[in-house]
Amino acid sequence: MKKPDYHILVCNSYRVAGDAQGACNKKGATNFIQYINDECMERGLDVAVSSTACLNVCAQGPVMVVHPLNFWYGGIDSEEKIDEILDALENEEAVEAYLISD
Ligand code: FES
Repeated sequence: MKKPDYHILVCNSYRVAGDAQGACNKKGATNFIQYINDECMERGLDVAVSSTACLNVCAQGPVMVVHPLNFWYGGIDSEEKIDEILDALENEEAVEAYLISD
């Protein structure tokens, strides 16, 4: 099996028992999954996109993580920000302004 070059996780606030109801979901993170998929395909980026359970940094949501680079982004609430992140990813770089600090 050919594994993708990158794996983007989009927090969708799923809880162990029950529906998505956390911060990222409420801030509209679900709307971006299709957009990220479409943009990656258009750019020729080999990316798998997954929605996840809560990543425990809710206050900084919506949260998006790019592996294997381990870039954790917060406040990703627009297609423009996603475009910036994917522009940087094409060079394996991060958008420092959106990185979640330690
Ligand atoms: S709901 Fe997204 S980090 Fe907790």
